[in-house]
Amino acid sequence: MFVKEPLAALAEKISVCTKCPLHEGRKKSVPGEGPANAEIMFIGEGPGFHENEQGRPFVGAAGKFLDQLLAQAGVTREDVWIGNVVKCRPPGNRDPLPEELAACDTYLEAQIKAINPSIIVTLGRFSMGKFVSGAKISAVHGQMRKVDDRFVIPMFHPAAALHQAALKPAILADFANLPELLKQARAAQGKSVREEEILKQNEKPKQLSLF
Ligand code: URA
Repeated sequence: MFVKEPLAALAEKISVCTKCPLHEGRKKSVPGEGPANAEIMFIGEGPGFHENEQGRPFVGAAGKFLDQLLAQAGVTREDVWIGNVVKCRPPGNRDPLPEELAACDTYLEAQIKAINPSIIVTLGRFSMGKFVSGAKISAVHGQMRKVDDRFVIPMFHPAAALHQAALKPAILADFANLPELLKQARAAQGKSVREEEILKQNEKPKQLSLF
């Protein structure tokens, strides 16, 4: 029997989802896009006008700025997964409501599980709130932390820098530092892989000695 690839199956479910009222204004859902085995997931807030038209994340003004920030960090869009905490456009681009976030969270959780990224970059406070509770984005932006088995880097939302010019230097600086944070995360993960190998090697003689 043909088994659908999990991300495609999720995208199909999202496209017909009616779990919250956001589906009422949906032209196209925006499940997110990128390689199924991406090392890095960028998670934004929710589709805006252009995303709702095209069904793709970050294709409007904030997306253009995100492309610029990614290029500055030497990250190509093709290499990373990009999505949102809510997959249908909130009317007038208002903030997503707690019940909308909760309804859509099962999809995001399933996407994270399927992709299993080692690094998650959150864009904006709603995405940050899923991983870092009780923090103010103005205090923690650009600071990488370990959340369970993954590294999480909270960033300002690119649209925030477009609406508040005073935030632009901070978001530029945070993305300029992204290559260094990626290097640190990869080094830390490399270390834990080596540790696992050592642990496994140490286990072998014990197993063998049973015979
Ligand atoms: N803003 C977001 O948070 N996500 C998008 O996909 C577009 C704009």
